[in-house]
Order: sequence, then C-alpha cells, then structure tokens
Amino acid sequence: MSITVFPMTPHLGAEIGEIDLSRPLSPADVEAMKQAFWHYGVLIFPDQQLTEQQHLEFAKYIGPLETSISVLNANDEKLRVPPEIADVSNLNARNEIWGEQSRIRRLQMGNRLWHTDSSFKYLPARASLLYARAIPPIGGHTEFADLRAAYDALPENKKRMLTGLVAEHALSYSRARIGFRDFTEAESKNLPPVPQVMVRTIPENGRKSLYVASHVGRILGMPEEEGRALVDELLAHATQRQFVYTHRWRVHDLVMWDNRCCLHRGTDYDDLRWKRDMHRATVSDIANTCEQENIEVTAAAAV
Ligand code: OGA
Ligand code: MN
Repeated sequence: MSITVFPMTPHLGAEIGEIDLSRPLSPADVEAMKQAFWHYGVLIFPDQQLTEQQHLEFAKYIGPLETSISVLNANDEKLRVPPEIADVSNLNARNEIWGEQSRIRRLQMGNRLWHTDSSFKYLPARASLLYARAIPPIGGHTEFADLRAAYDALPENKKRMLTGLVAEHALSYSRARIGFRDFTEAESKNLPPVPQVMVRTIPENGRKSLYVASHVGRILGMPEEEGRALVDELLAHATQRQFVYTHRWRVHDLVMWDNRCCLHRGTDYDDLRWKRDMHRATVSDIANTCEQENIEVTAAAAV
C-alpha cells in the first residue's frame, strides 16, 4: 500500500497516512513523500511511535542532520536529548517545568515570533521535524505561513526591488525583539550575523520564496531603520491569514516543514502549568542562500 496524502489547504499543509516512520521506507514511499513535501511545504504524520533514533533516521531521508546550537542549551544542566535533537520543551533536565525566570525560557520565547529555523546560521536549515511527546490541553499550537504564496502575491515592483537584496540574520536580532540581550561574549562570537538572500528559488519546483524572518536585523545597502521597516512590512504581508495554516497538535504527531518556503511560530500556552514536550530534528540546507542564488557578498559579511 502506498502513502495517502490528505491536503489541509490547497497549497500548504497535508496529512500523510499509511506510513510508519519507525521503519525503513520503500523508495516509492520516499519519492511520494518528497513530492508531497515540495508541494505542501508542511507534512503532518499522525500517530507515530518513534524513538529518538527512529526520528533521526527518518529525518535523514531529507538530508544531512544539523546539530542543535549549544547556546540554546547553555545551562549547566545535562541535556535531556542527544545533540542532534533540539529540545523544544518547557522542561529542565529533571523533566520538571522550567522556572519562570530561567534563561532557556526567556530565550525560547523567541519561538513565538515568525521565523524560519537556523537562517541565522551561514548554512541554514532545510527542513525541521518536530515530534510531540506531550502537549498542553489548550494552546501551544504551531502556525505556518507560505512564503511562496506570499511572494507570488507581491506587486511586481516589490518583487523587482527585492530581487538580489541580501539581509543579515542573527539570533541576537530576533532575541532583542523580545528584550533578551543576555548573550555571553562567546555566544555572540559564535553566532555572528550572516547574509541570506531575500528572494530564493526552490530547486525542486522553480518556485520563488520570500526569505524573511524575525532574525533579520539589517538589509545590506539600506539604512538600518529603512531595512527594519521593510522586514516588518514583509512579515506582516507574508503572515496574512490566507497564507497561514495552524497546526493543533495531537500527541505523537510528527510535523515536518520546509524552512526554505515557510515561516512558523509557536502560539501561547500556560507554560508554567502544562508540560509541552517536543523534540526537533533538523536537516541542513545544501549551501548558504547567497551561494545558491549566485550572489556575491563582501567577505566581511560572509562570516
Ligand atoms: C521549532 C519551533 C514552535 C513550537 O521547533 O523550531 O519554532 O510551536 N517550534 O514549538
Ligand atoms: Mn523554529
């Protein structure tokens, strides 16, 4: 039996049935799954029973794994998860709900902003695969916005103006938006601003995608305030309701999204009351987006 594809909207988000991600997949299923992924940008695999290792093995069908950034785990406690998995829970190493003032809580609040994973790394993330082990009874959804549809809907003059522009992304920029400024010197040095194009082409289907995120702090060649205003305008444009799919989690959902063409953000929930235990595997892109689009950036920007 081959996989079934059940679209959540015509262009963004599809549920995939008749597939067991805990086992090796047939080449035909891998191909069908990838075709659905390039089309829908977000795939939902309900009711999967996965160990951490099986979760990672499935991610490898999409590409090489990225390891989690240590800055997000920079407390003295031992990690709950292996280094290839990002801990997106509200729990500490003893599986207790984090403290109100904990550093990790303040950092992770940045996930409430519209973003695309690891665009603040020179080599950004291609895909993310988030697996729900425990969810709160209310709230804590994840929203996705289609950056291809958002690009298509831009006026022609805006498309022309954005083509070839390069933005600087940094974790410190998005965290500054929520008032988090406590990066150590070593962390800031490890995560300097990186260049990414603002319009990219998705190789599998030739579609153009608007590559913006709250990680952007500056647009090269533009005064800082002007760049910020443009980014805010584009984020507001791209996240209009017609471009958005909201995922309401069930335990054991695995949701995989294409960071090249989707924004996402977590929604509010009572994180000091309910446990929300989510594990993320992340797949690297093939190259920095400027390299992919053959755009030269000055050596100084290309750290
Ligand atoms: C992520 C993320 C949002 C959420 O895992 O990359 O942004 O709803 N998650 O947990
Ligand atoms: Mn994210």
